[in-house]
Amino acid sequence: MLRFDIITIFPEFFRGVFDFGIVRRARAAGLVEVAAHDLRGWTHDRHKVVDDRPFGGGDGMVLKPEPIFEAVESLTGLTGGAESFRQASKRVVLLSPQGRQLSQALAAELAGAERVVVVCGRYEGVDERVSEGLATDEVSIGDYVLSGGEPAAVVLVDAVTRLIPGALGSETSAVNESFSEGILDFPNYTRPVEFRGRRVPEILLSGHHAEVARWRRRAALRKTRRNRPDLFAGVELSEKERAALDEEDE
Ligand SMILES: C[S@@+](CC[C@H](N)C(=O)[O-])C[C@H]1O[C@@H](n2cnc3c(N)ncnc32)[C@H](O)[C@@H]1O
Repeated sequence: MLRFDIITIFPEFFRGVFDFGIVRRARAAGLVEVAAHDLRGWTHDRHKVVDDRPFGGGDGMVLKPEPIFEAVESLTGLTGGAESFRQASKRVVLLSPQGRQLSQALAAELAGAERVVVVCGRYEGVDERVSEGLATDEVSIGDYVLSGGEPAAVVLVDAVTRLIPGALGSETSAVNESFSEGILDFPNYTRPVEFRGRRVPEILLSGHHAEVARWRRRAALRKTRRNRPDLFAGVELSEKERAALDEEDE
């Protein structure tokens, strides 16, 4: 059982969002548990203040460190910072556009933890001491700026949950997906065989499993080269595959 604890100033944001598809099934099967907590619950003043102005000046507000440290420490029962969390198989993820980008590999790593605490920033972000002294991981979901960490938390919970053994219908499904082997997934087709003048590639109708597998690998490589040259640069091609791709270029 992997438990996600999301710390946010908008716990209502998560109402219903994990009630669909694979995440819903994984929750129902007891593979994951997801709880959203109101950061203001760890403040001690009458107005439940969680933010303050940035030192050095500038626009906007910054989330204060005290309630976040208190929230994470009370949820984990640990006060020793990042090292103590890792030793206890717990991860504390600070969502931030300044983080390391979420990847299938990082999602798989998190799927192996017992507990993942997710800190959602807002406003201009979070006091840097959360990154320096509390989080085990500072994670971005991509090179763009969201208004808050909440949408990123949904992405992270979904991507991690589907990698927990048993979460997908078939154990092999995740193995064949995009990124699992450093390339994108192959293109899929379903009925009808012809649609608006476009036919499904004949080989997929042939019933020749080895030929289909070869076609799929080649189609996946082609698509990776076209859409993700950065990934393609790291792919090791066999002589045959290189020749086949070169031939298609001519
Ligand atoms: C408006 S953003 C802060 C942006 C920050 N001033 C910057 O430019 O790096 C507010 C919060 O949204 C979340 N956030 C924004 N973009 C994100 C991204 N790409 N990945 C993960 N979280 C993000 C973070 O939690 C962040 O603290």
